[in-house]
Amino acid sequence: MNNGDVNQSRRRFLIGATSVVGGVGVVGAAVPFVASWNPSAKAEAAGAPVTVNISKVEPGQQITVEWRGQPVWIIRRTPEMLEGIEKLNDVVRDPQSEEATQPEYIDGIYRALKDEFGIYVGICTHLGCSPKYRPEVAPVDLGEEWLGGFYCACHGSRYDLAGRVYESQPAPANLVVPPYRYDDDNTVTVGLDPEAA
Ligand code: FES
Repeated sequence: MNNGDVNQSRRRFLIGATSVVGGVGVVGAAVPFVASWNPSAKAEAAGAPVTVNISKVEPGQQITVEWRGQPVWIIRRTPEMLEGIEKLNDVVRDPQSEEATQPEYIDGIYRALKDEFGIYVGICTHLGCSPKYRPEVAPVDLGEEWLGGFYCACHGSRYDLAGRVYESQPAPANLVVPPYRYDDDNTVTVGLDPEAA
């Protein structure tokens, strides 16, 4: 065996060893990525339902999940917020949501399976912008009458905290309520109707 042979076989060994280490490293890094990417990619492609744990949503907080490529808001409403909705029955265009797009099992002024959690598609019914969550009461820019709601900055449409549009706005209808169900007290699935429905 001359020097050239020795170097050749050492090189082969080193290349082999490096590939194995590299391979392990790549697999280790790829697993979390695949795990977090796959469900949402599949969900988007198939319009699959989205299951959400709502136990950590604070009173007054809004979270957004994506369902069928659209933002869906989940808002945990306080008793004061629910009172505010009731006070707005006379200033919203369709208080009982008779013309709104929502499942049959959603009714009344709170537009929710459980009053505490409002769940709406976060897309303005005018031209499709996403309104902003403005839960404050009487902020300077929205005026003294404002009791919390959603404001669409594109053309100024106002919605209350049940997604009901005020009268005389560019937006013609209340926000859409998606199909959803409670799997248990802490878990909601957007995109599936309640089993009894
Ligand atoms: S898109 Fe919201 S007001 Fe026009």
